[in-house]
Amino acid sequence: MRRQRRHHGTTPRTTRLLGSLLLVVAVGAATVAATPARGPAPGTASGRSPVPLDRVIPAPASVDPGGRPYRITEKTRIRVDGPREARGVGEYLAGVLRPSTGYPLPVTDRGTGGIRLRVAEGPYGSEGYRLRSGPSGITLTAAGPAGLFHGVQTLRQLLPADVERRTRQPGPWLVTGGTVTDSPRFGWRGAMLDVSRHFFSVDEVKRYIDRIALYKLNKLHLHLSDDQGWRIAIDSWPRLAAYGGSTEVGGGPGGFYTKDDYREIVRYAASRYLEVVPEIDMPGHTNAALASYAELNCDGVAPPLYTGTQVGFSSLCVGKEVTYDFVEDVVREIAALTPGRYLHIGGDEAHSTPHEEYVAFMERVQPVVARYGKTVVGWHQLTGATPAKGALAQYWGLDGTGAAEKERVAEAARNGTGLILSPADRAYMDMKYDANTPLGLSWAGYVEVRRSYDWDPGAYLEGVPESAVRGVEAPLWTETLDEAGELEFMAFPRLPGIAELGWSPAGTHDWESYRSRLAGQGPRWEAMGVSFYRSPQVPWE
Ligand code: ACM
Repeated sequence: MRRQRRHHGTTPRTTRLLGSLLLVVAVGAATVAATPARGPAPGTASGRSPVPLDRVIPAPASVDPGGRPYRITEKTRIRVDGPREARGVGEYLAGVLRPSTGYPLPVTDRGTGGIRLRVAEGPYGSEGYRLRSGPSGITLTAAGPAGLFHGVQTLRQLLPADVERRTRQPGPWLVTGGTVTDSPRFGWRGAMLDVSRHFFSVDEVKRYIDRIALYKLNKLHLHLSDDQGWRIAIDSWPRLAAYGGSTEVGGGPGGFYTKDDYREIVRYAASRYLEVVPEIDMPGHTNAALASYAELNCDGVAPPLYTGTQVGFSSLCVGKEVTYDFVEDVVREIAALTPGRYLHIGGDEAHSTPHEEYVAFMERVQPVVARYGKTVVGWHQLTGATPAKGALAQYWGLDGTGAAEKERVAEAARNGTGLILSPADRAYMDMKYDANTPLGLSWAGYVEVRRSYDWDPGAYLEGVPESAVRGVEAPLWTETLDEAGELEFMAFPRLPGIAELGWSPAGTHDWESYRSRLAGQGPRWEAMGVSFYRSPQVPWE
């Protein structure tokens, strides 16, 4: 077993180099002796100095370090002062801390000191929090449980990386002294998972949820249908899942979520303060549906199932009434299963749908979504039709996207359509990092960690005011990915960068600070068993 040690990137380069050499020796000694090495880490009085407040990802809005640290001991209690949901956050925190500390950490509503989670009025918004740490305890204060949950993610990162191991570790468990006051820049901080090109089980989706929740994301967008697979049971059209879900890219067995499976994903996501945004991609990307029901095709002939990776060849039949019966049934059933506000209707790459038919289709379908109480989200091609009032458009263009297309998006934004930014050459987690990346695609170019991080969502699209930007999202398309570890390899270490763009004030944006903080996540991911790419742009510890 390897033992992780930590140092901080705040020292002069020569010291750090020397420190790295010492670190190698210390790790070697620890491996042989199986006891913690005690040599000093660079820039710290001891190798166990607590993590500074400003080492967190996403960078907090404000930190005020000072005072002595808090130490978690076998006597520590987690005291919750708030509604039942807040107690759930306390239990979650205890679940993180108990295995590695070996302490009982009871969750209680009485006593003093210890770790206190408190719901109270304050300038935190619905997702922000304040964390105060000192020798007598830690107090996390938020206006509600979502803020407490995000504060708990900060607290995790302030503890040694070994806290993430699921076996007992030696400690000590120190949290540095001071105050963090934090709230997000944007309300939409998403990750998308394509479960259509390859199917991922409920457990695999939960694992991904746990990874993305670490970085304070709040939306899980599930791409539930595409040419290669329909992944959600629809009672009124049962062949969609039973037949349309029966394969995937490469011809594997595919799969689909029963309604109970989907409810379980929604429940689990909600327990991590993530809202599920279901996507049914229409009118293109529909071969799995067209293969399942002949009547959905203009010629009445069902095409075969498709397991390749081309796009743009399929379209619902815009001129047939049965198409709208289908859409209404699907939207009704998915809306009924989904407590969140949004329903994503895709709308991208409808290359086999004539433009005027695309416009007509969107005119009919958007009101259906509204009728079932949901807000429309579409890929930015929706701005080529007329986005419904209140709709959001998800921009996935790149630097080379034509000026006319960008201007169409900008004009929609100026007219009230909110934007979610997922530029493919920055935020697409499925792009290769470089020419040697064994997985992923490269149609948007290579996207190394710096490129993914180093842009400003508020000033990204010309002619779009920051007020039109609702946030950012990191999509992960899975043509080349079919295991949980492969998802992680593509998302880490890029996803925390998109999360930081969504959460942190623009004034904290700084590549040098970010890459050094990112390096500090490496030992955490090792402790958690996250497969991640050791980008040469990051000074891993
Ligand atoms: C997309 O990448 N077709 C949204």
